Amino acid sequence: MLSPEIQQKFNDQIQREAFASHSYLYMASWCESRNLPGIAGYFYDASEDEREHMLSLYKYLNTQGGFAEVKALGEPRKEFKNVMELLEHTLHLEQTVTKAINELVHDCDKAKEYAPFHFLKEFVLEQEQSENSVLDLIASVKRIGVEERNLYYLDKHFMKMVAAKKQG
Ligand SMILES: [Fe+2]
Repeated sequence: MLSPEIQQKFNDQIQREAFASHSYLYMASWCESRNLPGIAGYFYDASEDEREHMLSLYKYLNTQGGFAEVKALGEPRKEFKNVMELLEHTLHLEQTVTKAINELVHDCDKAKEYAPFHFLKEFVLEQEQSENSVLDLIASVKRIGVEERNLYYLDKHFMKMVAAKKQG
């Protein structure tokens, strides 16, 4: 059974993952309202991924004698000038989650709670991958450009990327 301190920290992480999922869902609407279905697809997908992370922590906590719950979420950021700002915010959200996961792993180690410590390993590696893929995306968006005349191509680029990811 997890100690009450670690349980509390798992619930904090559940809230962060839920907040990221909630933020990406808002960003999907931002894109759809600007007729960018490909980029919206990317954010729908990212939202789904975060929900999966949240559920994985949620179920783990409940099976280890804890009580999982999603605490109240704040409002996601809603103002973005362009697609680049969406991606910079995405990177910021991912970096926040990475830092929190690393702290949680550190706390498990300090408390000698080695089962959750190992359970969290895949989250640590997943965060590294997520940050790298957002950085790659920022680099390609910089190259393509976010001006009105580039948006058709940029949107198609995202659409292809999401389709490729779905195919595995
Ligand atoms: Fe996540």
